[in-house]
Parts: sequence; C-alpha cells; structure tokens
Amino acid sequence: EEGMNAQDLGKLLHREPAEIVKKLFMLGVMTNQNQSLDKDTIELLAAEYGIESKEKVHEDISDIDNLYQKEVEASKESKHQESRPPVVTIMGHVDHGKTTLLDRLRHTNVSEHEAGGITQKIGAYQVRVDDRLITFLDTPGHAAFSNMRARGAEVTDIVVLVVAADDGVMPQTIEAIDHAKSAGVPIIVAINKMDAPGANPSHVTEQLMKYNLIPEDYGGDTIFVKISAKTGDNVEELLQMILLQADVLELKADPHQKAIGTVVEARLSRGRGPVADILVQQGTLEVGDPIVVGNTFGRVRVMTNDKGRRVKKATPSMPVEITGLNDVPESADKFVVFEDEKTARAVGEQRAQNALQKQREKVQHVTLDNLFDTM
Ligand code: GTP
Ligand code: MG
Repeated sequence: EEGMNAQDLGKLLHREPAEIVKKLFMLGVMTNQNQSLDKDTIELLAAEYGIESKEKVHEDISDIDNLYQKEVEASKESKHQESRPPVVTIMGHVDHGKTTLLDRLRHTNVSEHEAGGITQKIGAYQVRVDDRLITFLDTPGHAAFSNMRARGAEVTDIVVLVVAADDGVMPQTIEAIDHAKSAGVPIIVAINKMDAPGANPSHVTEQLMKYNLIPEDYGGDTIFVKISAKTGDNVEELLQMILLQADVLELKADPHQKAIGTVVEARLSRGRGPVADILVQQGTLEVGDPIVVGNTFGRVRVMTNDKGRRVKKATPSMPVEITGLNDVPESADKFVVFEDEKTARAVGEQRAQNALQKQREKVQHVTLDNLFDTM
C-alpha cells in the first residue's frame, strides 16, 4: 500500500524527513522515513506543526480559481478601469514564419535604447508602438494556447494568424482558426512571405474566406495585413492593426484592484530558486506582495521585466518574472495576491496538501487496479 510517509510529509511541511520521524517518535509513533502512516497519525503531526485540517482554511480562500474569477467580475463593475495593452498570441502552420515574426517584433523593441540592458528570456514581452504597448506571448504554436485554455486560462485577447503567401492554408492554419474561434478570440490575418517568389496573397484570401475570415474589402470584418517577417515590410502596419483591434475590444483593467494573473512559464533556477514568468491581468503586483501561485506561495522577492530590468510594480498586461515562491508552479496556474503572508502560506500549504492527497488517491487507485490485474 502506498500511503503518505515521513518523507512526503517532510516535503509538504518543508522539514527534513528525519525531523518528522523524530517528532513522530515523541508523539509515540515508531516509524521510518518510508513507512506509510495512517490518517490519524498524519493529523496528529499536522496539528503539531500548527496546521489544522481542511475546516480551518475555509474553502473559499483556498479556491484561488474562484478568488481570481471574483476579481475578474469586480473589475467589470469597477469605476476605476483603465485601458490595458492587448495580449497577443501568434499562430500558424509549420514554417509559415511565426518565430521569424516574433524575432522581428522583439527587435522592434525599445531595448536597444536602454543601454546595457541585457535582454532576458521570459515567456512574454512587450513591444512599444508610439506611446502604447502590445504584449506578445513568446510561445508560438497551438499547444501552449490549448494547454492554457484546457486549464481555464484565457489570457489571449487577439490571435495573429500567420499564413505564408507562397504556401496558403494548411492543416495547422485550420487548427489555429478552430482554436481561436472556440475561444471567442478575434483573428488578425498576417499574410507572410510577401517577398517570396511564389507569393499569391489573393489565393490565400480566397482560401481563408471559406473559413469565414472575410476581409473588409469583401464586406467582412477581419483585418488582413500583407507582411514580410523576413524583410520587416509592413510589420509596423500589423502592429497598428493590432492596436486598432484592441480599441474595438475596449480592453480594460483596474490597476487598483487586488493583483491577479496567470503563469506563462516556470522553472527552478540554481541560484534563485523557483522562478515564474507571469502575466498580470488585474491590479498591480508589487515587490513584497504575499502571493499564492497555483499550489505554491511566497512573497514577491525580485520582479524583473521583459528587458531584464528590476521593477517594483507590474500593471495589467505586463509580463514579469518573479522569485520568492516556495516551489515551482505550473504554466497556466493562476495567482492571487493576499493581504498577509500568513494567509498566503496557509492557503498555499492547504493547496499543496490537497494536490498531494489527490495524487495519493490516484496512486492508490492504480494500486487497486494492479491488484485486480494480478487476480
Ligand atoms: P515552426 O516553428 O517550425 O512552426 O516554423 P515557424 O512558423 O516559426 O517559421 P520560421 O519563422 O521558423 O520560418 C520558417 C522559414 O521561413 C525560415 O527559413 C524563415 O527564414 C522563412 N521565412 C519566415 N518569414 C519569411 C518571410 O517573410 N519571407 C521569406 N522569404 N521567408 C520567410
Ligand atoms: Mg517557430
């Protein structure tokens, strides 16, 4: 039988397994690090560390998806909404030029004016156009988009669909259209590779019209832009069209609310511990804020923007990298800021415990199945 043992509990409580074994010994329970423990023993131990079982942390505050949603709703009612930059995902068929476009856009960035600024690789970045900003999620492709959606993370406001003018509509073009449509996200068509010898943009337009992407000249309302990601031709126009589409969507957020957002990517850094690239969606995230991110918690220690510069605050649609979490969250995890660190910790620990419990149930389930298999 695969129950929770002293090692699991140690990980959960951030203690050495040996300490757990010792503590249990003091409580009159003889065990080693690998031996499964029963529920009563676990509760006894948890109480010893000041963690009460489920009832203590009310379901409402450990359900951060719910807290997140509440802030989203609150924003709609808020009288202090301000317009926010659009969040854009680039999609399209293999080799149609997504990465080239992202690189081109990144180059358009103001970073060269910021002498000495080392551009850091984070999961999203912002491009300045005149005095406005556009946030690009730096993971081209459909997997990231559908993974986010599957986990209830709706972070994208606009999809830029890249279609090569010399290749036309291909299977992944159609897949991208389907993804964007089922998410209710407007599509801007970027007909790319206009510089290529075989470029045939009117053929591409005809093909796309079969999927109900109809340009304005044909009485539709889809924005089409002909570009070359390679030469940079008309990329500026594409950016302008993204801003135009953003205006139509009237994207707003309340920067004064409690900060919430979504994890784009996360990893363990050797020197800095857990590092998460997050996108702020409501409110303003500040250094020192107590935070719960997925099943992890902490205080925002260092916050870095997409240019690799330290910042103290992050406003809506701004991607930042944060450190200070107790563990590595998952991409598409939501985050919520709490009033105090104690609550954030309690909620984070509760969530980690719930996750572990779920995992444990799964393992037990598998064990049972295996048992039947051998009979
Ligand atoms: P995957 O990541 O494999 O799906 O491809 P991608 O969509 O990111 O395409 P990528 O940017 O890697 O470009 C594929 C090829 O097309 C590369 O050889 C690019 O140099 C070329 N390419 C991209 N944009 C243009 C363009 O505007 N004109 C021309 N002529 N070639 C381009
Ligand atoms: Mg690519």
